[in-house]
Amino acid sequence: MASVSVDEAMRRAIELAARGLGTTSPNPVVGCVLLDEDGQVVGEGFHAYAGGPHAEIVALAQAGRRAKGGTAVVTLEPCDHTGRTGPCSSALVQAGVSRVVIAVPDPNPVASGGAATLRAAGVRVDLGVRGEEAEAGNVAWLTSMRRGWPYVIWKYAATLDGRSAAADGTSMWITSEAARIDVHALRGTVDAVLAGVGTVLADDPRLTARNLRDGSLAIRQPLRVVVDSSGRTPADAQVRDGAARTWIATADAVGADPDGRVDLSALLAALHQRGVRAVLLEGGPRLAGAFLRAGLIDKIVGYVAPRLLGAGPTALVDAGVTTIAEAIDLEFVDVTQVGPDLRITALPRKREG
Ligand SMILES: NC(=O)c1ccc[n+]([C@@H]2O[C@H](COP(=O)([O-])OP(=O)(O)OC[C@H]3O[C@@H](n4cnc5c(N)ncnc54)[C@H](OP(=O)(O)O)[C@@H]3O)[C@@H](O)[C@H]2O)c1
Repeated sequence: MASVSVDEAMRRAIELAARGLGTTSPNPVVGCVLLDEDGQVVGEGFHAYAGGPHAEIVALAQAGRRAKGGTAVVTLEPCDHTGRTGPCSSALVQAGVSRVVIAVPDPNPVASGGAATLRAAGVRVDLGVRGEEAEAGNVAWLTSMRRGWPYVIWKYAATLDGRSAAADGTSMWITSEAARIDVHALRGTVDAVLAGVGTVLADDPRLTARNLRDGSLAIRQPLRVVVDSSGRTPADAQVRDGAARTWIATADAVGADPDGRVDLSALLAALHQRGVRAVLLEGGPRLAGAFLRAGLIDKIVGYVAPRLLGAGPTALVDAGVTTIAEAIDLEFVDVTQVGPDLRITALPRKREG
């Protein structure tokens, strides 16, 4: 078998890491490829679920004695602490690995220090190989660990003229089944789905991750969160149906902003405390406006249908913009056709000053 460069091995490790997306929280996604002294792949692994073996341990188990003198190529700095599993840094040292190549350092103060432990044991450590790519694959976890609140994706569906419902309030369905299937897949990658009580009262959504063809529930369900200052969510709302965990986040439980509404920063901090690293904000327009006003949105995923309504509520309300100079500038990072619709992914541009 041909030998593999460290760069190629890292590309593979990043691919492996992605297989854990949506199931590892509150842990990161991690992939690992083990090369022997001749650069042959002797082990591969990824972290599949919290509490399960780490990527390095899976790869070491595959490699057995062939790990000795070899190189571990890993997307995130190996952990240095004993949590539900033992420290990966020690496992790599014990296996006799002579070099560890890391894409991204671990920002988690509890688990970091693996690189120092490895170096102290005489292992060569290189940092930063395909760092940007590995960072992108783990962006929600890394962002949330660095700043202490979850990564927030705002998702909405609208017509080409930006309407989220018709003038009479009907909105089901603006986009195609293909787009809705895509949304359910997106729900499967996050830890919590958020909606304002306005949406719950208007649409009575279930907010579960489902297979839309047969209605079956995904094995792992995100926490459902209704942002509901004074507890107006009806007792028989579908969001309370027991199909997944639900938190009715009231101002009393979370803390109130100056208007007496749920304090959104406190809400995100509370979610972080509960192990939530990625949040999908599913609206509606008023809550999305409040999140944008507060600068709490990290990514926007808009599903745009090739339809026009010409009247009716817009996808976003009161985002704090009154003049064009205050417009929230975005960068489109992806445009993909999903059935007849477009899925547009955008990142808010950082404001100067
Ligand atoms: N096309 C789409 O993608 C999409 C998605 C979702 C919804 N929708 C549509 O949106 C409509 C509902 O919109 P909406 O704007 O009334 O509902 P919303 O944004 O879901 O909920 C707004 C409510 O959230 C509560 N809230 C709690 N804390 C808040 C805070 N800090 N800032 C702002 N709001 C806070 C407020 O009620 P309290 O003060 O009582 O807490 C507020 O009235 C429905 O017609 C639905 O079909 C469309």
